[in-house]
Amino acid sequence: MSAAARAVVVPSRAVVVVDRHRRRHHHRHHHHHRSSARASRVVAANAASASFDVAGARIAGVGKAIPEKALTNDDLSELVDTNDEWIAARTGIRERRVITGDETLTTLGAKAAMQALERANVKAEDVDLIILATSSPDDIFGSACTIQAALGAKKALAFDLTAACSGFVIGLVNGTQFIRSGGYKNVLVIGGDVLSRYVDWRDRGTCILFGDGAGACVLTATTADACSLKGFDMHSDGTQNHHLIAQYVGDKGKPMSEGASKNGSFCNISMSGQDVFKFAVRTVPMTVNKSLKAANMAAEDIDKLVLHQANQRIIDSAAQRFGLSEDKVVSNIAKYGNTSAGSVPIALCEAVETGAVKEGDVLAFAGFGAGLTWASAIWKF
Ligand code: ACO
Repeated sequence: MSAAARAVVVPSRAVVVVDRHRRRHHHRHHHHHRSSARASRVVAANAASASFDVAGARIAGVGKAIPEKALTNDDLSELVDTNDEWIAARTGIRERRVITGDETLTTLGAKAAMQALERANVKAEDVDLIILATSSPDDIFGSACTIQAALGAKKALAFDLTAACSGFVIGLVNGTQFIRSGGYKNVLVIGGDVLSRYVDWRDRGTCILFGDGAGACVLTATTADACSLKGFDMHSDGTQNHHLIAQYVGDKGKPMSEGASKNGSFCNISMSGQDVFKFAVRTVPMTVNKSLKAANMAAEDIDKLVLHQANQRIIDSAAQRFGLSEDKVVSNIAKYGNTSAGSVPIALCEAVETGAVKEGDVLAFAGFGAGLTWASAIWKF
């Protein structure tokens, strides 16, 4: 048979196959009329396979906002019994930023979001959803709505997500899910904290670690095949909550006992550093491995590790476990310390700005912290 003849036969055969399928399907459908349970199973299977019209998400723009005021390790050595050498060797931190003057979580979050929107070329009025990952809102009812107002993102639903340092990664997965299933096109995911408000500046075990800052990204809808989220893994363990807390203080359970309104307030951050350290070193490789597996990828596929910036030794230990050289690890902890929910998006933003993260790179995101919570995602940028 000539090549030309074969070319004609193949499509006609294909038509026959399709016809046969149709007939078989028809027959089955007819048969299932008698059994409604089986029939509904067929419908469910058909619905699940109709994934072609479910959208995916990609990051169209990133932004960040860092407070003006820097506090160096030397500055801290005037507050507590510590020194630059100890802090740098044990944590990798050289300085951190703290809010002053008019700076608030809302101003930082809005600034980071505006930059991300501008770079994504998305107008604020086209944003469908704002997810603000934070544990330190300006208002106990949340700060997502004040950021919405500052942006003029009138049609967006805006809400806070509290999951400490895992918040941004969880927000990224959440935002992607809203696009995949909820018909949203543009989702702003912001991560930020101003933990300087809750740090005990007399406690050298915690005050050296934390800094303020916010980062943001704009997720936009794309086709399901082009979805950047390739795999994720998220966990909580409330039985270990006591290792890192900043609890409500007051007359627990009877706020009206004296008949007058009282100011609610929260304790300073209290942390068992060694327990959190061990937890992080154990869980980060575990969760990243699970996300890699879900993405059908291996550690060699990671172009950049974008971890929560809590301690350089935690970052190094994870990089070593995955056999990743220094150039594959994003680190800016020396400049900002641990900015909690802000750390992953600020690290991502800087890596994009310097060209360290490029389009098409496979990123391994991971966050961990209070809750306890830990989460990771494999993201094709
Ligand atoms: N300067 C000098 N000495 C110090 C300081 C300091 N700032 N802090 C502690 N030390 C001393 C301790 O008193 C102790 O002295 P001793 O041996 O005489 O008792 C010694 O240094 C060692 O203390 P460790 O607590 O064992 O020090 P470690 O190496 O564990 O480092 C640190 C402490 C940096 C807090 C570390 O445990 C850590 O990074 N833990 C993880 C914390 C973390 O990631 N938390 C954030 C999670 S994110 C979130 O959800 C908000």
